[in-house]
Amino acid sequence: MTTTAETALVTGASRGIGQYIARSMAKAGYNVVLASRSATAIEALADELRSKGAAAMAVPTDLTHADSLEALVAASEREFGHVDVIVNNAGGDPQREFDQMSWAENEQIFRLNVLAPMQLTHLLLPGMLRRGRGHIVNVSSIAGRVGFPYTEAYAAAKDGLIGFTRVLRGDYRGRGVSASVIVLGAIRDAGQGQRTSDELGLAMPRFGTSPASAVAAAVLTAVRKDRPEIVVMPGPGRLMKALLDLFWGLGPSMNRMAGADATMRRVIEHRKPAGGEEA
Ligand SMILES: NC(=O)c1ccc[n+]([C@@H]2O[C@H](COP(=O)([O-])OP(=O)(O)OC[C@H]3O[C@@H](n4cnc5c(N)ncnc54)[C@H](OP(=O)(O)O)[C@@H]3O)[C@@H](O)[C@H]2O)c1
Repeated sequence: MTTTAETALVTGASRGIGQYIARSMAKAGYNVVLASRSATAIEALADELRSKGAAAMAVPTDLTHADSLEALVAASEREFGHVDVIVNNAGGDPQREFDQMSWAENEQIFRLNVLAPMQLTHLLLPGMLRRGRGHIVNVSSIAGRVGFPYTEAYAAAKDGLIGFTRVLRGDYRGRGVSASVIVLGAIRDAGQGQRTSDELGLAMPRFGTSPASAVAAAVLTAVRKDRPEIVVMPGPGRLMKALLDLFWGLGPSMNRMAGADATMRRVIEHRKPAGGEEA
């Protein structure tokens, strides 16, 4: 089937923030392709979106495997003819210590959080350039800038995603294909942070966090207004990000004062593999 409506491919749509993004893109009129490994969850979301009148397709995908990415692209183009917007949202961190994870585990974090978005973009970019239109939205994190504890590989990948977006935008915008990065602080209501808090019986504070719906709204704004970067944090997010770059000690002090250090110590103890065996 081919359509003339625009199609958005949203990765990581099986749970968390990705579900908010997918619902918001569908509501905005996009055909939506949902990608993640959990087939049942994305099929349920596709059913929900179709019941509200949207065109939606679930494609079970492991984004860290090249053949799975290629199959995702082929299925999307078969169903909708073309992909106009990629929302590289899938990502996350196992919340374990850098030295206690094997190199392969660290590499996998990097693969999911930066190489997979780059590869998916690389696969879809030629079609976008042929049509002279397209937008890539990458979901990154303030983790590297704020020096969030125990996130070495994740922070490197998410900072890498910001650099990738910046250069991609500069190189292809003149040919109709733009790119934006959404840099997230702590998100409540859905996603890894909220889930970890729930698991440990911790309250997710309203102060200092942003709702998952704000991320979905930021993705739409990035595409509609062609914004280079949106920082989803309470207060002046972009200024805060700049200050964190300028003053390296600021992030760790904030983490200490806000109790993030102590909380994350609890989290990594909780995440230790059963039996205390580490890599
Ligand atoms: N939550 C926060 O506070 C926060 C803060 C900063 C940045 N972020 C970023 O926001 C994005 C969404 O995070 P979230 O909190 O919503 O995470 P989440 O609830 O853990 O959801 C992660 C999504 O990524 C998918 N995914 C993971 N590995 C995958 C793989 N190999 N192949 C395909 N899909 C995969 C998961 O689906 P399957 O498991 O079904 O594959 C799931 O749909 C991530 O990029 C994250 O780094 C989140």
